Amino acid sequence: MTLITLASNRGRACSPKTSKFRLRPPMAKDGAAVNRLIADCAPLDTNSVYCNLLQCTHFSQTSVIAEDGSSIGGFVSGYVQPEQPDVLFVWQVAVAHHARGHKLGAAMIDHLLFRPVCDGIHYIETSISPDNAASWALFNSIAQNHNTQLESTPWFSARHHFDGDHDDEHLVRIGPFFLDSRKAPKQWGASE
Ligand SMILES: CC(C)(COP(=O)(O)OP(=O)(O)OC[C@H]1O[C@@H](n2cnc3c(N)ncnc32)[C@H](O)[C@@H]1OP(=O)(O)O)[C@@H](O)C(=O)NCCC(=O)NCCS
Repeated sequence: MTLITLASNRGRACSPKTSKFRLRPPMAKDGAAVNRLIADCAPLDTNSVYCNLLQCTHFSQTSVIAEDGSSIGGFVSGYVQPEQPDVLFVWQVAVAHHARGHKLGAAMIDHLLFRPVCDGIHYIETSISPDNAASWALFNSIAQNHNTQLESTPWFSARHHFDGDHDDEHLVRIGPFFLDSRKAPKQWGASE
């Protein structure tokens, strides 16, 4: 478990309510709260609580919860791509409304990248809908912060894959990264 202090992105100190988050792997007890957080973070697709429970258990080492006191400020679900062991696929990133504006999304992804389980990870992949400006900004800033590349290609199409019920999804690939959990910035530390 890691206690972090986030820098404000507006050049002023964060308020106590939003400046301190405890980053840790999710657990089964978080599943229902994660489901509520995702439901409150449009345009994310909601999944069943059962699906969130699997993320919080089977994929806990590649997922992260940000706790803000007793409430959840953010959640990232991810997994190592089964056919590409150097790729961390970031499934969903959600930051609660009260916790936004402090780059918590990028902080949670950095935290994941510095976990020992990600020592062999050289790329992040995710998918983004063309209209999700916040998500494009988040992943562009991760590429910039790590001084690496972001490439995007059309992936799932509204017409051919979603029966018209969902926006297109572009496959976004960021990297390469060459990070080492032993050299994690002090404020992130290694996760337990
Ligand atoms: C995307 C999300 C996780 C970012 O939350 P956050 O970490 O608090 O982000 P911040 O407010 O600190 O902003 C991070 C960057 O995104 C930009 N940004 C944030 N919201 C934005 C918006 N609605 N439109 C355009 N840019 C936006 C900020 O300007 C900032 O850019 P910078 O790094 O160049 O300064 C949050 O908005 C969210 O949960 N959205 C709903 C769910 C979602 O779309 N998830 C991503 C897809 S998986």
